[in-house]
Amino acid sequence: MNTSPTLSATEITSDRLRLRKAHDADRDGLIELMTDPQVRLYLGGPRPRDAVEQYLDATGTPGVTDKPGAFVIADRTTDRLIGTLLLARRPAELPGHVTEEGWELELSYVLRRDAWGAGLAFEAATAALRGAADELPDQPVLVVTQTANERSLKLAARLGFRRTGTFEAYDAEQTLAATDLHSFRT
Ligand SMILES: CC(C)(COP(=O)(O)OP(=O)(O)OC[C@H]1O[C@@H](n2cnc3c(N)ncnc32)[C@H](O)[C@@H]1OP(=O)(O)O)[C@@H](O)C(=O)NCCC(=O)NCCS
Repeated sequence: MNTSPTLSATEITSDRLRLRKAHDADRDGLIELMTDPQVRLYLGGPRPRDAVEQYLDATGTPGVTDKPGAFVIADRTTDRLIGTLLLARRPAELPGHVTEEGWELELSYVLRRDAWGAGLAFEAATAALRGAADELPDQPVLVVTQTANERSLKLAARLGFRRTGTFEAYDAEQTLAATDLHSFRT
């Protein structure tokens, strides 16, 4: 297994946002993210609330972001949880790669429904990718999203990701998009 790192920062700020690690006060927001039918529409559907609560009891709320590259997206002024963002490595055994070896950096993002349509996912993703680009060597970054997920595809395109192909997974067509990490260098 390739153990190349993702970005090491545990906190990143942008104009309106703070990407940070989760704390106990984020529990209700995380439950909403995992149980909201609209948010989960292209992510396998909402999870049952009981199961989410058991998961959070078992890991502890901070456990949700304990891995490098995992962040809560919070409002910079109020600290309210707006969503989550992950920049991690895509396991070689999953379909959807642009290199022979796999394990490329992969970006994913989830916002609360009431935070859509304000450019906040774009702002969070740009901040995280700039941080990674300033720290890591140039390399591909992937976004994998259901082809039906137009909002996610639009966001990926606005970030500069180019569609490289499609594949079937979880009973749906997935679109693979990629860009070069150093396109985000500041
Ligand atoms: C995918 C997702 C994060 C996109 O959120 P989003 O708010 O549409 O994304 P952006 O941050 O790019 O915002 C773009 C929208 O904000 C608007 N906007 C308003 N102010 C803006 C600003 N200052 N800057 C940029 N865009 C702004 C844009 O016009 C655009 O609106 P439109 O889509 O109605 O045209 C969100 O739909 C989501 O959480 N979906 C569920 C989870 C999911 O499927 N994730 C994908 C897994 S990888």
